[in-house]
Amino acid sequence: MATLTKVKISNEWDLYPVRITARKLADNVGFNIVDKAKIEIAVSELARNIINYAEYGEIFLQEVTMLNKKGLKIIALDEGNGIENIEKALIDGFSTSNGLGYGLPSVKRLMDEFEIQSEIGKGTKIYTVKWLR
Ligand SMILES: Nc1ncnc2c1ncn2[C@@H]1O[C@H](COP(=O)(O)OP(=O)(O)OP(=O)(O)O)[C@@H](O)[C@H]1O
Ligand SMILES: [Mg+2]
Repeated sequence: MATLTKVKISNEWDLYPVRITARKLADNVGFNIVDKAKIEIAVSELARNIINYAEYGEIFLQEVTMLNKKGLKIIALDEGNGIENIEKALIDGFSTSNGLGYGLPSVKRLMDEFEIQSEIGKGTKIYTVKWLR
């Protein structure tokens, strides 16, 4: 199993390190410049949401290797208030905080696999994978 990297997220200062970590791991997997940029934006949006809606959380990054493909898995985990309506949260422009509401829909578009598990009052887990082409 490839190394699992954990980055703690609690404030704006944690954005840069998690971006750097994502870029480095994406580089190791072999992603091109465009895909590396996509991964970096995605991880940054996930981290920004943790800061805004949960105060504290963790982002896990891991190279994934399958029989015929490899990629980078990114999981964002927090114990915040949870997402009230996941379907709505994925609509462009929907925000509960006067944000632009483009964070999550962008992450979904930028990554190949995307799944949200969230429970009110318990927290949120967002699972994503980008596959190398
Ligand atoms: N980790 C989270 N915990 C709780 N709620 C969340 C979390 N992430 C997103 N949300 C909810 O989903 C909504 C949509 O998130 P999204 O990132 O798309 O937009 P935004 O953060 O409001 O604005 P933007 O990301 O464009 O600045 C948020 O307004 C918030 O209500
Ligand atoms: Mg956001």
